[in-house]
Amino acid sequence: MTARQTVMLLVVVLCLPGPLHSFYPLFTFDGKSITHRQLTQMACLKKTAEVCRDIAASDGRNFTLTIDDSLTADKVQRACSSTATSTSVLSTAMFRISIATMYFSNAIVDVVYVLSEDHHFDDERFEGGRDIITAGVSAVKQSVKLENFVAGRWTLGRVFHTLQDFYSHSNWVELGNNAPYSALITPDQPLENLAGPSTPTCRNCTGDNCTDNLLPDLLQQGLLTSGYFNIFSSAKPDGKCSHGGTFDQTSKRDPVGGINKDSIGSSHGSLHQKAADVAVNATMELLEDIRRAVGDKNFLRLMGLSQSTVLCFVIDTTGSMSDDIAEAKRVSFEIIDSKRGTEQEPSAYILVPFNDPGFGPLLVTTDADVFKDNINRLSASGGGDVPELCLSGLQLALTAAPSSSEIFVFTDAPAKDAYLKSTITALIESSKSVVTFILTDVLASRRRRRSSQGWASRAMSQADAQLYRDLARASGGQTIEVTKSDLSAATSVIEDSSASAVVTVFQVVKSPGVPVQFNFTVDGSLRNITAYVTGSSSLTFVLTSPTGETQTSSPSSGNLATVTTVGNLRRLSLNTDNITGEWQIRIESSDPYSVKVTGQSSVSIIYNLVEAHEGAHGDFSLKEGRPLSGGNVSILVTVTGSDTVNVTEVSLFDSSGPITVIGSIQSEGSGNYLVTFTGVPVGNFVLILKGEDSSSSSRSTPSSFQRQASTQIKTSSISVTPQVNNTSIEPGSTVSIFFEVATTVNGVVNGSATGTFTVQASNDRSYASTSPSTVTIEAGNGGKANGTVTLTVPSSAASGTDVTLTIEAQNADASDTNYAVLRFSVTAKVTDVTRPVCQVVSTSENCPSSSSLCSSAQWEFIANFTDGINGTGIESITVRQGNGTLNTSTVSGAGGENITVVTYSASCCSPNVELTAVDVVGNVGTCVGQARESTTVAPVTTATTTSTGGRALTTSYFVWISVVVSVIWK
Ligand SMILES: *[C@@H]1O[C@H](CO)[C@@H](O)[C@H](O)[C@H]1NC(C)=O
Ligand SMILES: *[C@@H]1O[C@H](CO)[C@@H](O)[C@H](O)[C@H]1NC(C)=O
Ligand SMILES: *[C@@H]1O[C@H](CO)[C@@H](O)[C@H](O)[C@H]1NC(C)=O
Repeated sequence: MTARQTVMLLVVVLCLPGPLHSFYPLFTFDGKSITHRQLTQMACLKKTAEVCRDIAASDGRNFTLTIDDSLTADKVQRACSSTATSTSVLSTAMFRISIATMYFSNAIVDVVYVLSEDHHFDDERFEGGRDIITAGVSAVKQSVKLENFVAGRWTLGRVFHTLQDFYSHSNWVELGNNAPYSALITPDQPLENLAGPSTPTCRNCTGDNCTDNLLPDLLQQGLLTSGYFNIFSSAKPDGKCSHGGTFDQTSKRDPVGGINKDSIGSSHGSLHQKAADVAVNATMELLEDIRRAVGDKNFLRLMGLSQSTVLCFVIDTTGSMSDDIAEAKRVSFEIIDSKRGTEQEPSAYILVPFNDPGFGPLLVTTDADVFKDNINRLSASGGGDVPELCLSGLQLALTAAPSSSEIFVFTDAPAKDAYLKSTITALIESSKSVVTFILTDVLASRRRRRSSQGWASRAMSQADAQLYRDLARASGGQTIEVTKSDLSAATSVIEDSSASAVVTVFQVVKSPGVPVQFNFTVDGSLRNITAYVTGSSSLTFVLTSPTGETQTSSPSSGNLATVTTVGNLRRLSLNTDNITGEWQIRIESSDPYSVKVTGQSSVSIIYNLVEAHEGAHGDFSLKEGRPLSGGNVSILVTVTGSDTVNVTEVSLFDSSGPITVIGSIQSEGSGNYLVTFTGVPVGNFVLILKGEDSSSSSRSTPSSFQRQASTQIKTSSISVTPQVNNTSIEPGSTVSIFFEVATTVNGVVNGSATGTFTVQASNDRSYASTSPSTVTIEAGNGGKANGTVTLTVPSSAASGTDVTLTIEAQNADASDTNYAVLRFSVTAKVTDVTRPVCQVVSTSENCPSSSSLCSSAQWEFIANFTDGINGTGIESITVRQGNGTLNTSTVSGAGGENITVVTYSASCCSPNVELTAVDVVGNVGTCVGQARESTTVAPVTTATTTSTGGRALTTSYFVWISVVVSVIWK
């Protein structure tokens, strides 16, 4: 272990009441202070709304949303939709999940980088802090370029943390600034007016009152400083300010006290609100920079503002699969053709073929035609009697698809790579994606079949199919078993799932099967309610409506539902949307069966396991991996799509028990609830949420609703604890991850346990990685074993690539597994930090002075953009404002640099232009121009170039700064 790791361990073991030194990451404990979660959410909502407003304006649509602090994800998503009306069913789940990814990633900085001065702008580390922001922003831009939006969000969340901390930890707001410090996100600008290393900055506080502890000289000269912070040592340079607070030892030494504004109770707590406000604006300014670099469309995708899901197929391409491939093609073409150009068009298409010995390549595209082309080119060939690499193909899809995607696997063969089962299960749990298997020609026990093409059946026995059933069950998906001739009737489930805003109301699996009556609540927001029942042919059911009407399984069409039966699947399409209340379905079967009830609704739930930092009053961070059996489980649940929902009960339900654990609910505002479950036993649980919605209040009583999460939450008594001290890796470098394995009893490490665990480390990029194959807890080791996993990123890896590393530990009899999930982003050192520079060449002076005559004339604006001799070069030039036309040509400058000559011409009715030039690594330069009246005798602009410390600054450079400020503050 390195010294830092030792320190990290110590810190984690220490009891930490309240925030150590940061805005509270996720939750406040004083009920008033603003958290990193709220700062992040507000900035993302406001900037997204601004982008939608600008798009609406350029499309000539009305945009009536007021952009202020009362924005919610639902309001923004509705306003951003060009077709949504106040009553349309709209899902904000993806948007909420994306924002949650950013704030969880933000919060993790306080765990992973707890003692890094640079990450928190402590100790006057302004250059270091800015380098982190610059490298991160550059990686985000590269991620977006690779359409790696999930990786982009993880990186962005971390960058937000450092940026936001600046406003709490420095004296920026004390200096009277109301606007963000733009130099933090523009690395080609100098950081000026920093207090020197030997410049004293603080004096003693008066008792606990730190209102006046910054030195008057410092404030007068406008010098920037930040607080020193150390939890072990009180050493700090003479006369320097401290961070302050119980844990900061430096604040106990002369000058006593601190300057942080982390919460309202902090040393400078009276400025907490102001620091938070500027931090939101700074976060928006950073988002604006990314928006300009990646364009509006990609920016909205980065924010997750998409209501549509991805269409994701994993297809066996062995010889006997030609019917299945043809059907996958038919159904996907139908979905694509019926939704193209609408907001329901899939946001991305993912295709993974597999056979033996190969799998892949993975295709991820947003272009429907590319997907069509690829699926057209699939052909069934080879194979024979051998099992296929199904799980390897599925693994690629699970890591490529965004969280909570629906993945369809087509195969007729057993999996050859069944050893990946626990890895796949871990990926399902961490991605919350739903996997549905469409299995053709599973052998009934009595006879073997021969398909129409004459391929010998590849003998998928009931036992082989069980692997797929187990994975489907863990994910909340289904296993549909049909003959090849019945396939087309079975794929209706794919069309159902590609509808917008599909939610799960109820789901249960009974294995072994026993007769049970299940109840589920149908609320007024649900449309197109569908129940799926899978089971043997002898299964029967009785459906009962809230008004007491019943329908049995024998007629295919009754008063309550239309029933389609294909293979092992019965699909019940409920005839009515408006019989709300408690429904019942009674299943009679002694074979295993499953029931799933879905519908379309704006009201949806998202959830994440969170973990308290050690100690009674610590904050929480995202927990990945299984919760410990017998211990406490905390889950942050968000109800989307309604501001009028009241959550009344959240429970964890294990249908095989049956065990139900009821959680205690604490509302955190904006539809967020922190739910704590005490003593969750061994089992496979699903999260069930019940509540009341008072919005559908044509009724006098609120309408009851229920939603169920798809993914199972398994508990484990093994703990796998990695120690990570960096989440970004440079291409060509290796990281070592130290981890600890222990067995636990009721959530606590069993210090006297011994045992050997099988260890498996895998990553989704097939990067080189080493891992011990086993670790052993010896007697007398305090019940813990440890090991080190390494991961090497090839030097060819592109900046902006993400890599997910899973470290699994399994006990000796393979009855229990747990794992840790670690996400890294590949971030190359940024070498080009200079923005493209604009030089205005000329502006024509021929517009009529009266605007009523504007349509009679055109004006022209000519400017030169260059990225300089050492820059990466200009990649794109776009018109941000103005509706004229743009022509560009490239010439060579005096110093050999490329110069892009831009000629813009527009009607005099469109008198303003703003051009954006983006270089290869995403630095953004801007140029503005304005039409001139023909009467005005003004000289043609000639740009003067001044030199500051080797940086060439032009007049338009300064124009750029004012443009950004005006964009932010309008
Ligand atoms: C936009 O709003 C104005 C005023 O409320 C209204 O007259 C106009 O019809 C609206 N336009 C569209 C396209 O809805
Ligand atoms: C703290 O000191 C300032 C002046 O130094 C004073 O105005 C303020 O009232 C004091 N606050 C408290 C709570 O005593
Ligand atoms: C500041 O406070 C410390 C601790 O109370 C004290 O030792 C020191 O003399 C004070 N310094 C000044 C300049 O008052």
